Amino acid sequence: MVVTNYTESTDGEEEKLSQECKELLLSLPKEKGWRTHHLFKYQGFWCQPREIQSIISFQKHFQASDTDVVLASIPKSGTTWLKALAFAIVNRKRFAISNINHPLLTSNPHDLVPFFEYKAYANNQLPDLSKLPQPRLFGTHIPFGSLPNSIKKSSCRVVYISRNPFDTFISSWHFINKIKPRSMASMSLDEAFEMFCKGVIGFGPFWEHILGYWKESTEKPHKVLFLKYEDMKEDINSCLKNLAEFMGFPFSLEEERGGIIEKIAKLCSFENMKDLEVNKSGKSIKNFENKNLFRKGDVGDWVNYLSPRQVEQLTKVVEEKLGGSGLSFKSLPEIINIKV
Ligand code: A3P
Repeated sequence: MVVTNYTESTDGEEEKLSQECKELLLSLPKEKGWRTHHLFKYQGFWCQPREIQSIISFQKHFQASDTDVVLASIPKSGTTWLKALAFAIVNRKRFAISNINHPLLTSNPHDLVPFFEYKAYANNQLPDLSKLPQPRLFGTHIPFGSLPNSIKKSSCRVVYISRNPFDTFISSWHFINKIKPRSMASMSLDEAFEMFCKGVIGFGPFWEHILGYWKESTEKPHKVLFLKYEDMKEDINSCLKNLAEFMGFPFSLEEERGGIIEKIAKLCSFENMKDLEVNKSGKSIKNFENKNLFRKGDVGDWVNYLSPRQVEQLTKVVEEKLGGSGLSFKSLPEIINIKV
């Protein structure tokens, strides 16, 4: 088979795709990307060429252990926050929350909890993950259906953070325009909005991503914990308790009396994390500047951006795609109360 030389070097980095991946790309549906020339539809979801290569390797090689915890999300749903909270909880015996040298004060959560697709299996590497401290925590944006069997079949746990599609879209649009390569033109909100509604967004369609984890969490609640960003903003203490229990690290009464829940909430709060030096000037995932991971951290910021016509359009899509699923989002106006 003759394979053309596939290049997608929009960010100045030379693509180092394997022959297998290059051949695969030629057979996949493609669309204009948000910050790369194209997104390709792999196993039903849209991703960049380099992501596909790492996902294939991850699917082939990763061996889950029963104590692992996988933190999953579609981008811009609060992944960074969830990683910080989970890291603080499971490591609280190793790193006391009030310690002035706590790792979350000097490292971005993405450096403490690696993504499978951007870190562990990136750049054709086969990592030795056996030496990571227990329990191993990992992050991923991969839809549930495409996680390796070893994750699905082992007793390891999966925590999914979801966010309403309106805010997820606005957050994505801001983020992409900040991190896109200089050689690419900015993407207008209108263009990005149409792509999002069509399902063309990294790891999307949004609906399918969220429904995959939602369905699994309803069928196997001991396996998948489904969190909502809006609930966490409203009542972080209850969410922390729930998360700690689910991961197998419940807080003791004594810890609770000592205020550990409030301390973790404060350590990982948007206000605290945004102002840390490492998050103002450092770089983490794929060398992106950490400061772009912390924008407003609000619920409902979409009202400042979407036109009434866009609100109506997205509402219709949400109703059509999520209606009947039992999944709904708080803190959205009446107009988008999904029928469940
Ligand atoms: P906004 O762009 O709406 O401000 P992700 O971590 O999945 O990339 O999601 C990024 C979104 O989460 C951004 O939303 C960001 O500001 C918000 N965020 C980051 N850290 C947070 C924290 N500690 N608490 C609440 N929200 C946070």
